[in-house]
Amino acid sequence: MPTIVFVSPKGGAGKTTSALVLAEQIARSVPVTVIDADPNHPIQSWASGPNTPANLSVVSNADEQNMIDVIEEAAARTPFVLVDLEGTAAKIVLLAVSQADLVIVPTQGSQLDAAQASRALRVIKQQEKMSRRAVPYGVLITRTNPAIRTRTATHLMKTFHDAGISMFNTELHEREAFKALFAFNQPLSHLDPKDVSNLDKAVANAEQYATEVIGTLRAGLQNGAAT
Ligand SMILES: Nc1ncnc2c1ncn2[C@@H]1O[C@H](COP(=O)(O)OP(=O)(O)OP(=O)(O)O)[C@@H](O)[C@H]1O
Ligand SMILES: [Mg+2]
Repeated sequence: MPTIVFVSPKGGAGKTTSALVLAEQIARSVPVTVIDADPNHPIQSWASGPNTPANLSVVSNADEQNMIDVIEEAAARTPFVLVDLEGTAAKIVLLAVSQADLVIVPTQGSQLDAAQASRALRVIKQQEKMSRRAVPYGVLITRTNPAIRTRTATHLMKTFHDAGISMFNTELHEREAFKALFAFNQPLSHLDPKDVSNLDKAVANAEQYATEVIGTLRAGLQNGAAT
């Protein structure tokens, strides 16, 4: 019953988007609960739209007092639990990470974002010391241009790689469809290709991302290796 927690202190790094995209892919085969721990409740609002998959439920009552209980209750109900946090490095993040089978650190390919990702990695290391267990994690590069790899992004990826930081091979590309999810309050599977360009490519990207995440979990999550 894996719990996957999305962490980055950087606002706009893509936590909520990557959490929802993964949730929809998992819900195609098994029930999943998303704990929407952002006080603005973006995933809860999204789920008020039509066509939310029956397998996907959203819980939005988690706070610092009850986070661990809320995760335990959700894990007892559904095989997968995803936790979307607001962009802070507060205690609630540590609590959620303490329950994680995998932490995903979404990061855009710029120097500023990478510095913020490093802060998220420090939170993971802190939790590892507190709990005396390895917390598997992977940095997920988000919002990349599928056609062009910028020099900055290449450099940053190399820096992460050289520092021994676990990275997902799949990137979540910048796609209109990933914005349209929230604009239309619809899952990817119900967006209309007439409204949203390159929808098929976004779906393929979402599938590849979910496959890699599930493969990482299956691989036994040894030593935090996501690659
Ligand atoms: N892969 C993507 N393609 C296109 N747009 C994206 C993508 N990922 C995120 N966005 C857009 O970037 C903005 C920020 O994304 P998101 O809300 O997922 O970030 P966040 O890390 O959850 O932010 P916060 O810390 O504020 O909760 C949103 O407008 C979202 O639609
Ligand atoms: Mg968010």
